[in-house]
Amino acid sequence: MAILSADVYKEMILDLYKNPLHRGVLDPCDVWHRDGSMFCGDDITIFIRFGKGKIIEDISHSGHGCAISQAAVSLLTEHVKKKTKDDALHITNEQMVAMLGIPISPARMGCALLGLKALRGALEKET
Ligand code: FES
Repeated sequence: MAILSADVYKEMILDLYKNPLHRGVLDPCDVWHRDGSMFCGDDITIFIRFGKGKIIEDISHSGHGCAISQAAVSLLTEHVKKKTKDDALHITNEQMVAMLGIPISPARMGCALLGLKALRGALEKET
């Protein structure tokens, strides 16, 4: 397996910012949750439609934020689509940061985790 350089990951982040995955309002959906950053005022809303066995049949996101937050939520929604609610609930902060592939400074950690926070909020609304 090839090891990608930080430059490649930075390019990927900028590309996902310009061309996000699973962007938009999912209608109809079973649950949705909006979460925001108290530091910058940016926000992300996650929409989920479940299938049999609590599989995440479809998922989308809306809102606004910096390149890191938007790339992270793109990668996250792509990662959890077709997985179970339990699988998604077990994604750790460290796994989310690892998906981005570059070191994230403490000041930007909230950006990297904003989508995951919104995802957890949405999953908790599913009964
Ligand atoms: Fe607001 Fe990154 S600066 S989410």
